[in-house]
Amino acid sequence: MIGNLIILLVVIGLTVLFGWLTYRAVRARKLWVKIVGGLGAGLLTLIFAAASFFGAKGMAATYFPDAPDAPDLTVAGTPEQIARGEYLVDIACVGCHSQVGTDGRPTGQHPLSGGWNIAAAEGFGFIGDMVTENLTPGGKLAGYSDGELFRVLRYSIDQQGHELGMMSFLPYRELSNEDTEAIIAYMRSLPPVPTTGVTGDKMNFLGAVMSGAGLFGEAPPPAPTVVTAPPQGVTAEYGKYVATFGECRGCHGPDATGAPATSVSPAIPNPRPFVNTLTLEQFTAVMRSGVKPDGQPFPETMPWQNASKMNDDDLAALYAYLTTQP
Ligand code: HEC
Ligand code: HEC
Repeated sequence: MIGNLIILLVVIGLTVLFGWLTYRAVRARKLWVKIVGGLGAGLLTLIFAAASFFGAKGMAATYFPDAPDAPDLTVAGTPEQIARGEYLVDIACVGCHSQVGTDGRPTGQHPLSGGWNIAAAEGFGFIGDMVTENLTPGGKLAGYSDGELFRVLRYSIDQQGHELGMMSFLPYRELSNEDTEAIIAYMRSLPPVPTTGVTGDKMNFLGAVMSGAGLFGEAPPPAPTVVTAPPQGVTAEYGKYVATFGECRGCHGPDATGAPATSVSPAIPNPRPFVNTLTLEQFTAVMRSGVKPDGQPFPETMPWQNASKMNDDDLAALYAYLTTQP
């Protein structure tokens, strides 16, 4: 944050400097100085002015987000909560927060010690680092209250009140209070494992400028304080909720009808036409095996492993959702 603040001040200084040079060039006696100097310095003034404006905007949104205080909350940690939390975490979080292998990528295995630098791995390391956190009580989260963990999941705000870069793009603000508490109960029940490398965000100034300019996609709507899940069952309505904790809507768009490309991710197709060609049995088989009926496997960009861990009813609800007109 301090580094980015210093860069911001330098860039504002350059804006003023080139603004002044533009003024001097335009008032020069020689015509060529007027034209070449005025245009050159003018252009640089505009570029630095835009970088200052968007950089300041991006930094304000990250370091001083409009976030509520952490709620006063104590999660009981009943066996039912822990079991529900385990089910949700194994579907939603393991893909990113699992232990990393020697290649630095998540193995999908416990412990949930994190350490995957998603920005570097996915080709947007030019905006800084984004490393998954250790979710066991052996790392940073040991010092979080239940309310602070709730605030991470509902509002994507860390203990210092800063916005979490990657988490803010994930759909957990739509998880019910009950499920959010179940996830907290489960994280607390994990055997503690120490954090080995650096974790968390380190967005650089370019990242701040790009985020301020809205290049990472639209900011999600503000989260409500209380969220209730639809009644559990094999319905399209509950299937939409399954598509939330199953991450499908995070990638395939809020209505699971596909999502356009942004500067950090490619376009994602609408899954519905393909799912509509399948029976429930075929859909279940595709999601459990990662292979389509024509023998084509899903590429690595499509994390079918999330869905493969869902129970039969949740997969049936997901099928009902994807085969119902949104
Ligand atoms: C797409 C990958 C991804 C998924 C899926 C994901 N996370 Fe994260 N998570 C991250 C990254 C990266 C960070 C580091 C901060 C950031 O960039 O948001 C993080 C940070 C965190 C933190 C630390 C917040 C802090 O205050 O520093 C917690 C807690 C957390 N995640 C919990 C979860 C839980 C629980 C789930 C599943 C419900 C989950 N995450 C799913 C990528 C992910
Ligand atoms: C990390 C992003 C991501 C997530 C999360 C994700 N998908 Fe996908 N999905 C993709 C991409 C990318 C493709 C296109 C793969 C390709 O090129 O064939 C895809 C393809 C598909 C297809 C095949 C579409 C077709 O016409 O061939 C289906 C069906 C699908 N996804 C369903 C789901 C479901 C259900 C979930 C939730 C359990 C889900 N996806 C979660 C990224 C994602």
